[in-house]
Amino acid sequence: MNKPITILGFAGSLRKNSYNKSILRAARELAPGDAKVEIFDLEGIPPFNQELETQMPEKVKEFKAKIKAADAILIATPEYNYSIPGVLKNAIDWASRPYGDNSFQDKPVAVMSASMGMLGGARAQYHLRQTFVFLNMHPINAPEVIVNFADEKIDEKDRVIDGETREKIRQLLESLIAWTRRLRKE
Ligand SMILES: Cc1cc2nc3c(=O)[nH]c(=O)nc-3n(C[C@H](O)[C@H](O)[C@H](O)COP(=O)(O)O)c2cc1C
Repeated sequence: MNKPITILGFAGSLRKNSYNKSILRAARELAPGDAKVEIFDLEGIPPFNQELETQMPEKVKEFKAKIKAADAILIATPEYNYSIPGVLKNAIDWASRPYGDNSFQDKPVAVMSASMGMLGGARAQYHLRQTFVFLNMHPINAPEVIVNFADEKIDEKDRVIDGETREKIRQLLESLIAWTRRLRKE
């Protein structure tokens, strides 16, 4: 049997009842037997300061180590002003540094987004994909998990209750796992 795939997931929201945290937890629940999703909370990552690159804050060191140890990355992003939240960009900027030590180098990645709006954060996903180019990551293209009207699909206990959304998340994981194994020529 192939070695299990480890997926590091993080959400671009610090909100306790974040819809994006909810879809990430659903991914952890729905992961197939040959994969495990670990969730990293971005809370506590300070604002990026290039002067501190050579003395990385402990939380950033932990984040970089988890990314490097993972076989693949799963990001759940809110959409803020048609783009990704500063919290997410800030964490990505830290983990991409110092120059020559980009923790995301060569990693397969999948994206999900959730919003109460009709477009479900789709615009933020496309901004994030642009960043993957410079990070030299390898995103999967399909399926797209764009959770619109999130307040109708996630209940007051922060559980994803919409069957179609759960199925899309399951398919996304399957696709990310297959892509990861393909890149490794397994
Ligand atoms: C500063 C700010 C800007 C926002 N801009 C957008 C937007 O451009 N598009 C959108 O669909 N929702 C927008 N929203 C609504 C967020 O998508 C919504 O608050 C969402 O629940 C945030 O994700 P979370 O639940 O994971 O925290 C914005 C919210 C904030 C606070």
